[in-house]
Amino acid sequence: MKIGVFDSGAGGLSVVKSLLEHHLFDEIIYYGDTARVPYGTKDKNTIIRYSLEALEFFNNFDIDLLITACNTVSAYALKEMREASSYAVTGVIEPGILALENKLEDKDAPILIIATRATVASGRYQNELREKGYTNITALQTGLFVPLVEEGIHDGPILESVMDYYFRDIDTPAAIILGCTHFPLISKVLAKYFDNTPLLIHSGEAIVEFLEREHGIKEQSYDTQLKLFASDNVDGLRKIAKEWLAE
Ligand code: DGL
Repeated sequence: MKIGVFDSGAGGLSVVKSLLEHHLFDEIIYYGDTARVPYGTKDKNTIIRYSLEALEFFNNFDIDLLITACNTVSAYALKEMREASSYAVTGVIEPGILALENKLEDKDAPILIIATRATVASGRYQNELREKGYTNITALQTGLFVPLVEEGIHDGPILESVMDYYFRDIDTPAAIILGCTHFPLISKVLAKYFDNTPLLIHSGEAIVEFLEREHGIKEQSYDTQLKLFASDNVDGLRKIAKEWLAE
């Protein structure tokens, strides 16, 4: 199977990492819109327009499935992307919610969603969790983590002071939804910040579970070929890929 993975930039490589670890596909075509990242600070119409333009890139390849690794795109543009494409398009929000539901039975347990400004404003995670019966939901925009992670700051005092800033009024939650592609790279520090008690929901792991359950795609022994494309600075994307996929 040949699939496409779309992200606003390099962040979606955190999802690719999970796909590679589970050897799910023959070939992954990755496209990061590095010329226009971040999407998480943009408005709905811009996010939809950029996402539809990304589909034009994937039209050059005969893909069987497209995964939008970007939470912001998943929050705003899935419907439009599905309508405009001939292959299945899967986002990361539904898989994340299902992963949480499988692991967290207590519907009143405090859940913290951290994501970009746009993802939080869309209300997608919050609404879907409420529909599943969860009652204690806090959604926090933590966009500053995005440039920090891109800068290679995955631990240390700068990251910790940004955590102090965002989490100053937050009690330790039962679960944290990492509602942004970049956050798995700081998941260990995040978990430690909250005494290693919260359950962390990671889009990459969630989508692997989802693909197996919903699409019958199982772990194989493929030596997946990964092809990286970007709308700007492909070398920068390759460099990040080298670092992140090896971590
Ligand atoms: N990929 C985005 C997301 O998961 C984060 C970076 C951005 O704002 O574009 O929401």
